[in-house]
Amino acid sequence: MRLLQVKPEIYKFDNIKSFSEFFNIGSGDLILTNEFLYTPFMKELNLTADFLLREKYGRGEPSDEMIDAIMKDVNPKDYKRIIAIGGGSIVDIAKLLVINNVTKTLDLFEKKIPIVKGKELIIVPTTCGTGSEVTNISIVEFKAKHTKMGLATDELFADYAILIPELVKVLPYKFFVTSSVDALIHAVESYVSPKSNTSTELFSIKAIELILNGYISIVKKGPEHRLEIIDDFLIGSNLAGIAFSNAGVGAVHALSYPLGGSYHVPHGEANYQFFTEVFKAYNIKNPNGKIKKINSILAEILCVPNDDNIYDELSKVLDTLLVRKPLREYGMKIEEIESFTDNVIEGQQRLLVNNYAHLDREEILTIYKKLY
Ligand SMILES: [Fe+2]
Repeated sequence: MRLLQVKPEIYKFDNIKSFSEFFNIGSGDLILTNEFLYTPFMKELNLTADFLLREKYGRGEPSDEMIDAIMKDVNPKDYKRIIAIGGGSIVDIAKLLVINNVTKTLDLFEKKIPIVKGKELIIVPTTCGTGSEVTNISIVEFKAKHTKMGLATDELFADYAILIPELVKVLPYKFFVTSSVDALIHAVESYVSPKSNTSTELFSIKAIELILNGYISIVKKGPEHRLEIIDDFLIGSNLAGIAFSNAGVGAVHALSYPLGGSYHVPHGEANYQFFTEVFKAYNIKNPNGKIKKINSILAEILCVPNDDNIYDELSKVLDTLLVRKPLREYGMKIEEIESFTDNVIEGQQRLLVNNYAHLDREEILTIYKKLY
């Protein structure tokens, strides 16, 4: 049984200049990034690498049409490294560009062509939530099929994950909160996953400490304080990524996908709507298992004397950073309580197997009803 895998080598730099010097970035490299990052952080460095600015191919989450157009431009050139500097979308696209001989993204996801990695991949995340720099998954929307699909294969692991806190400082406050809440949930869900072990728990616990202590001091000192402690969030997100890459995430992610997909709620925000209710349900279902440990870890960080109402105490902190509102306010319809539940049971088994305690149809339905 494998306990832990961390594929990329992980580095931290103060700025892009030191990173590009250390890695000798230049000809033979393709940097995939956003214009709003290129102009302030890369333009004046006069790097001889090629740049591909994602805005040229449209906005929104990555779709197969967008990636096919990028592949058409990139494939004829003989790059030795692909360097992603950006958020989740940039990273998801870059992971696919290292695979040889792809003309249609769908062929890759339907495994119609062999998956052979032909280039090195360097990932520089500019949000503090997805942990995607250390995972082997890429998620793409397939326009004609009206669905998102994920490809998880070890060829998609980066060779190097690079943490540069200065890049994350420009993340607007709302995106900072929604992305870091996602990281906190990665850490907590992976901690109680049946696939967790002592090694993955180390990563989960440290990530929880960094992120939650950071939130507590932001609540005290105000939103601008995040800029002083941004390292903690970037490292916390990275550690949480390692934990969930090995132990998986469960029902919180599973229940949030139908809401996020149907009503375009940001991933971290959608997760947060379900986070504390799922953990309250776990506590009722099996109060004496491993959840006791996570409850006391949270109680200690939150400085509350007992952990009986720990998820209400946790909500008090998180609610000051990110709003929870009834699901109907996102546009969800009452009949979707049933259809979302069915969608989760039928489509999210890969996540539900990571649940701390089994949640049956009725229990999932009850969570949706309660939050509706
Ligand atoms: Fe997530």
